Amino acid sequence: MILKAVFLFLIPVSLGYVEDLPDRCPSAQDELFVYPKIQFPGLEPFQVRCYSDGEFGSGWMEVFFKFYDSWVFNLTYDQYINGFGHVEYQHFIGLEKLHILTNRKPHEVFIEILNYERGYRVRCENFVVGDRSEGYSLKRLDGCSEDTESLQLIQGTKFSTFDRDLDGSPDHNWAKELGLGFWFSAGKPILEKRKLLYLFIRRKD
Ligand SMILES: *[C@@H]1O[C@H](CO)[C@@H](O)[C@H](O)[C@H]1NC(C)=O
Repeated sequence: MILKAVFLFLIPVSLGYVEDLPDRCPSAQDELFVYPKIQFPGLEPFQVRCYSDGEFGSGWMEVFFKFYDSWVFNLTYDQYINGFGHVEYQHFIGLEKLHILTNRKPHEVFIEILNYERGYRVRCENFVVGDRSEGYSLKRLDGCSEDTESLQLIQGTKFSTFDRDLDGSPDHNWAKELGLGFWFSAGKPILEKRKLLYLFIRRKD
């Protein structure tokens, strides 16, 4: 693991192009979306979708986008660890990348959950995802613009998928019932497969 990290880090540096690759979404962009490649030591370069919000500004990296009534998110724990989908449409960046990104640099988060009648929009100043041994938990989720507990987004909650139910509810496997992986806690989630979900993160340093 360490050897691999060193190897991936040294190659781009020796070829001299690492500076060309931004490691964050641009702090100013005119377009709604741009698609830069992100280079992180220890990871292969990967393409991301960067979003500029009318209210919260630029610099947001889209890490989860699920459209209304989508059935394609009922996937396994391993698939959620690795990530899936296409950055130009529905996708999830992967729990391992989310852990690495939010642990190496301080990040804020912006979550939007919409159905046809109403929407929830919450921004939190601190967002850290735990590692595999921590169940990729919401290790830190605070400084939020709304009461996130009423949205069933609770600090410490582990990530659940249909094949790995860590929601803490004895009567439910929410991921299986609702058809997607997420940080489900015991209470009835407001999120389900009919709803649209956006999750963006932004570096604070
Ligand atoms: C998700 O997939 C599992 C395994 O195939 C299945 O048992 C479950 O019913 C599915 N959930 C939904 C909401 O389709």
